[in-house]
Amino acid sequence: MKPPVALIDKLRSTRRLTVLTGAGVSAESGVPTFRDAQTGLWANFKPEDLATPRAFLRNPKLVWEWYAWRRGLVATVQPNPAHLALVEMEKLFPEFTLITQNVDGLHQRAGSRNVIELHGNITRTKCFQENTVVTDWPDTGDVPPKCPRCGGLLRPDVVWFEEALPEKELNAATHASLTCDVFLSVGTSSLVYPAAGLPGAALNAGATVVEINPQPTPFTDRAHFALAGPAGIVLPELLAMLRATPRGDGE
Ligand code: OAD
Repeated sequence: MKPPVALIDKLRSTRRLTVLTGAGVSAESGVPTFRDAQTGLWANFKPEDLATPRAFLRNPKLVWEWYAWRRGLVATVQPNPAHLALVEMEKLFPEFTLITQNVDGLHQRAGSRNVIELHGNITRTKCFQENTVVTDWPDTGDVPPKCPRCGGLLRPDVVWFEEALPEKELNAATHASLTCDVFLSVGTSSLVYPAAGLPGAALNAGATVVEINPQPTPFTDRAHFALAGPAGIVLPELLAMLRATPRGDGE
């Protein structure tokens, strides 16, 4: 679906653009969305059985290996046109904030600079006891490996169900949602809070809200613009139309 001209006109006079992304922007890189990740090898597991502190304490080896499998998958894929279009869009607006729920690090690998990782990053590891990042540890063959400082279990530095989001990142994401002129929600099912509350917060603060998703979500009816299509197609189209029409504020 081609972005409507009214949206391009709005974006031409926009100074502050905030973008929220979900697993859908990495789908075209070959990274299964959170739900799809349960197909194949993990068909018999529910995310709640793998991505919670209790699941980890119940079976640390299984949870560590599930994330090791996802880390291996992410290491083999490349950013797709959706990630690359967002890198270019960052250059077109005086204030641009990219908030992601994704833990794959693909936005940074694509070249995005101002990225807020609401749910952490699967390539980072932290100590379950100390809750501090650990960058290297002796290869003792333990699965999961042990913290070199306190001997506690190491875990991926991602937010699990029943866990709080990192405070600094959530505050920054909330501020960027409440102060932007346009809020773009891309490739998220809008089901998991508090991230799913950001588009509504932007809307209530007076921003124009755009959703890009091939499927409807609980937010679709509230968006000013709902572009039904894959991010890897719609975002490059949006970028091309923005480039074809110079900014309205003379920049
Ligand atoms: P979901 O798997 O819940 O939703 C993915 C969304 O992407 C769906 O709405 C799809 O319709 C859409 N989608 C699929 N392909 C797409 C494409 N090519 N372009 C655009 N959209 C596409 O993933 P999230 O909404 O990101 O938390 O899930 C939010 C959080 O739930 C995740 O961050 C995860 C999980 O708890 C952690 O991993 C910590």
